[in-house]
Amino acid sequence: TDLEHLASSIDDAETAVAFTGAGISAPSGVPTFRGDDGVWDAFDEGQFTYGRFQRDPAGFWADRVDLYRTMFDEEYEPNAAHGVLAEFARDDVLESVLTQNTDGLHAKAATRASSGGETGEAERETDADEFATHESILELHGNARRVRCTDCGTRVGSDPIVERAEDGELPPRCECGGIYKPDVVLFGEQLPKTVLQRARSLARESDVFLAIGSSLVVEPAASLPRIAASNGATVGIVNLESTPVDSVADVCLRDDVTTVLPRLQELVDSS
Ligand code: OAD
Repeated sequence: TDLEHLASSIDDAETAVAFTGAGISAPSGVPTFRGDDGVWDAFDEGQFTYGRFQRDPAGFWADRVDLYRTMFDEEYEPNAAHGVLAEFARDDVLESVLTQNTDGLHAKAATRASSGGETGEAERETDADEFATHESILELHGNARRVRCTDCGTRVGSDPIVERAEDGELPPRCECGGIYKPDVVLFGEQLPKTVLQRARSLARESDVFLAIGSSLVVEPAASLPRIAASNGATVGIVNLESTPVDSVADVCLRDDVTTVLPRLQELVDSS
């Protein structure tokens, strides 16, 4: 089967890389951007550009509060698919997990995988697992659970800052007087060069490139699987619907991530 083919390619691979999008967090309850009930149906993408942030930070933040409340009002937990990727990375089955998601759930899953699945209440309350950095995880679009001061660069958790904005502090400011910006890549903003270079070289070096839960329509999502394919990688796509990149993939699994990844793990583990 396709899944067996993918599993044996992973077993044979020196470098296997996973690349994820909003679809992997959908089973955790995080809304996706496109498709039914997508965030960009309810919100106008044009309000969240880097240009708007620079021009009108107060207006940007007023709208950002609503978006943040829609996307992150709940305390989300990683699901089985995050768990499988975290264990693959821990066990060096995967070289890296590249993600477009800003929800921090891969980091949460990685912290749990490395601590044997146990997360104490205290740790959970401080969000330590969400903001932990893991060498194997590359958050291409940043982390929405943090904000960063545009002057001094200090990073702090988003929740209290969003609350202050909600209470009328527009735009919210750091102690140094600088304006806080969500610690994410906004539309019209460049991805950090080093991050993009790392992602491209991982795609180039990979023997297996798995794109999971992404519509693969924005950059660099659209080109990373193509880079991998043109350098000879086995490309697998796991997504509920078809993508514009399916034609370069060796295997397309059109199913739920929480169904496919545990099955894949069983096959990889047993071979
Ligand atoms: P999208 O919302 O564009 O695509 C999510 C994909 O996941 C869709 O193609 C769904 O069919 C699929 N999907 C949903 N639930 C699934 C499930 N349970 N199992 C498998 N597939 C499922 O999200 P991204 O591709 O991540 O950028 O979007 C890329 C970027 O566009 C985001 O990072 C964000 C957005 O604008 C920025 O904010 C800069």
